[in-house]
Amino acid sequence: MARITAGVATSHIPAVGAAIDLGKSHEAYWQPVFAGYEFSKRWMAEHKPDVVILVYNDHASAFSLEMIPTFAIGCAESFAPADEGWGPRPVPVVEGHPELAWHIAQSTILDEFDMTIVNRMDVDHGLTVPMSLMFGQAPAWPCRVIPLAVNVVQYPPPSGNRCWNLGKAIRKAVASFDQDLNVMVWGTGGMSHQLQGPRAGLINKEFDTRFLDRLTTDPEGLAQIPHLEYVREAGSEGIELVMWLIMRGALSPDAREVYRFYHVPASNTAVGHIIFENPR
Ligand code: DHB
Ligand code: FE
Repeated sequence: MARITAGVATSHIPAVGAAIDLGKSHEAYWQPVFAGYEFSKRWMAEHKPDVVILVYNDHASAFSLEMIPTFAIGCAESFAPADEGWGPRPVPVVEGHPELAWHIAQSTILDEFDMTIVNRMDVDHGLTVPMSLMFGQAPAWPCRVIPLAVNVVQYPPPSGNRCWNLGKAIRKAVASFDQDLNVMVWGTGGMSHQLQGPRAGLINKEFDTRFLDRLTTDPEGLAQIPHLEYVREAGSEGIELVMWLIMRGALSPDAREVYRFYHVPASNTAVGHIIFENPR
């Protein structure tokens, strides 16, 4: 049977991707950011997933205001890096896992989550930057990836509680998949940031620290935070953090925090990163 072994959350800042692609990761500004992922790359090499269910948001690369799925699961064979205005990032094409993706689509839809099934989709920095941070620069990504896109761009995004419950439905779906696979679930985006308006540049270290603490110790309570609180405390783009609750819901309640990293600033964003292992 497939099993979820671990969960990872990380910010997905596009400038981090550019720093990697342009060979700037050793510059003084970026060095502390990348230093925070050294442990993670070693840990990832030791824990080699077969498949990553990568929860992220599209930033008007694959979708636009013409079509806004709340939850969309990528069932394709592969997903190309999106052109985000400066051309696609020079990273490998993402290989999917159609069989497991369709199984998750079936299981979650029958569990009353109205997933959108996507058979063609390009993937932007929301997905490719976490891949680069966790795997480094590689000629090919070392595992399959199932992209799970969540609308956190156009109001109304799903609630934290809905995301938490979707995570639990994904846990159930993976546990009933009849192949021996090491599956990880990643949640991306965040932490506090606001890109526009009078509060552009907002960072809230207290909120972020408490979010990380509660993600470990009280995820069910954390899932009750309403949208207004995210926007007020973590900025308009801080709402991306609801995606971390899908990851956490997919793990066992007593998953163990094995690593945490927090750094300000990177671009306009507080960088947050956390790794959980499920009990064996
Ligand atoms: C930035 C952060 C994001 O999450 C994003 O999607 C775009 C830009 C930033 O910090 O600049
Ligand atoms: Fe973003």
